[in-house]
Amino acid sequence: MDSVSDFFARSQTAFFRFFADTFFAKRYGHRAVVLETIAGVPGMVAGMWIHLKSLRSMKTGYGPLIRELLAEAENERMHLMFFIEIAKPSRLERTLILIAQLVFWNYYFLLYVIAPKTAHKMIHYFEEEAVRSYTSYLALIEDGEVENIAAPQLAIDYYGLQQEARLADLIVRVRADEQRHADANLAWACDGQQEQGKIDRTTIHQMHRWTERANAESATEHTKQAAP
Ligand SMILES: [Fe+2]
Ligand SMILES: [Fe+2]
Repeated sequence: MDSVSDFFARSQTAFFRFFADTFFAKRYGHRAVVLETIAGVPGMVAGMWIHLKSLRSMKTGYGPLIRELLAEAENERMHLMFFIEIAKPSRLERTLILIAQLVFWNYYFLLYVIAPKTAHKMIHYFEEEAVRSYTSYLALIEDGEVENIAAPQLAIDYYGLQQEARLADLIVRVRADEQRHADANLAWACDGQQEQGKIDRTTIHQMHRWTERANAESATEHTKQAAP
């Protein structure tokens, strides 16, 4: 059964990889924008499903896993926000994103309900592809084929990078996120840790840090408004 699940997860990944390679080739900025819109789906779908599972089984203990899955979805959404400042999607790409969201949300939801471990295994392989893809993007920057422009301010704030950080610094951080997602999804797929959420907490800490920053900013804003 494990090998069937693995075969399915790998072949789905190969299918999506073929599609991405054909459509984007070496346009890694655009590739990142479109693929990050898809990458933000699984954590939200799985988080929602585990939330519903907790409600109907009336059991506690699902909180850490739900939060981790939602943190993963938010982390992917942030990746999208960084790359949207680097590569603006064409009208065709926007249409593709719309269709892909419609299809992939429903597809992943069904897969997650029927075979959650296979679903996590598939995301594990997707994330490994993302790591490879960002490594190739980095190589193009190192070879001078892609300009190593300044990192977007949003990414500098999110990761706490230095003000002079460049695109390459951003990609290194994003790639590390993807590697963590790959490891977490493998753990959920393999060890029955799904119920316990025993995984690296970096993604969720990142989300909390970002939330605290937003709270601090809105508090400062409030103080400014309250000042005479
Ligand atoms: Fe991502
Ligand atoms: Fe990811």
